[in-house]
Amino acid sequence: MYVLIGATGIVGREVVARLRAADAPVTAITRDPGTAGMPPGTVVVQGDSSVPKIPEQAWSGVEAVLLSSRAAIASAREILSAAADHGARRVVVVSAATVEYPAGEPRFIAGFRALEAAAEASGLAWTALRCADFDANALAWAPQLHGGDVVRGAYGTAATSPIHERDIAAVAVRALTEDGHASRRYVLTGPESLTQYDKVRILGKAIGRELSFLELTPEQVYAAMTAQGLPEDVPARLLGSLSDYARDPGPTTDVVAQLLGRPALGFAAWAVDHAAAFTH
Ligand SMILES: NC(=O)c1ccc[n+]([C@@H]2O[C@H](COP(=O)([O-])OP(=O)(O)OC[C@H]3O[C@@H](n4cnc5c(N)ncnc54)[C@H](OP(=O)(O)O)[C@@H]3O)[C@@H](O)[C@H]2O)c1
Repeated sequence: MYVLIGATGIVGREVVARLRAADAPVTAITRDPGTAGMPPGTVVVQGDSSVPKIPEQAWSGVEAVLLSSRAAIASAREILSAAADHGARRVVVVSAATVEYPAGEPRFIAGFRALEAAAEASGLAWTALRCADFDANALAWAPQLHGGDVVRGAYGTAATSPIHERDIAAVAVRALTEDGHASRRYVLTGPESLTQYDKVRILGKAIGRELSFLELTPEQVYAAMTAQGLPEDVPARLLGSLSDYARDPGPTTDVVAQLLGRPALGFAAWAVDHAAAFTH
């Protein structure tokens, strides 16, 4: 049984879909089984990944665990200790490339370091997926693009090699189900470094619209995000890393291609997959 913490997240959903497509047994932990929308055959257990105690029945027959929830970072040690007690052999944690290539506020990097440390201390065979920023972060632009063709944001020249969630999930499934990935820290990125200007242009092409990026000051972005009611750590996380990536681009690796035997998916492919999210 593969127990997925964060099963309804951007990465978790893809991992569930892949495992179930291969008829592998999956237990998905979610706070709200009624809205989780898990594929047929998934065992869905009500639980909160921010709480160290995962319900006992979730561990029945556990073979491997995926930790892919920001909420589980603080509770990872207790969760993995319970997994080990119930016979789990492997854990895969979704971490961040910033652990190895620091960018953004140190407190967020420290969280991912703690997550990896919990996996290493668990006694399970562990694999850390140190992911670049997700292509899916561009979904934050959708509300602006429902009402116009301009994306407003700070640090337009900030450059990273963003990664498609399908690639993270494909690697996660390998690490959950195959031997040979223990004690590995994979830095997973997309295939090419892109500024925010590049991403908006590529997105426009994918959805058949002429889009542009309009640079605002960080203070304007901070004020707009907090006025929307977003918690303070959302702009702190975003602006902290963008300002660093404007000075020094994030890493680009070929680890996805090496592991999957095909090139990593580009941002254009992600934009085509998610075009509907940006339509008026
Ligand atoms: N976005 C990026 O660029 C990036 C880059 C590197 C690493 N990461 C990390 O990758 C991991 C996976 O990210 P993701 O976007 O797929 O998933 P996520 O946003 O961390 O959420 C996964 C699931 O965790 C549960 N959850 C989220 N917030 C919660 C809260 N406050 N309290 C309790 N449960 C909560 C929700 O499940 P239920 O509602 O079903 O309970 C959610 O569907 C995260 O640890 C993230 O920090 C992200």
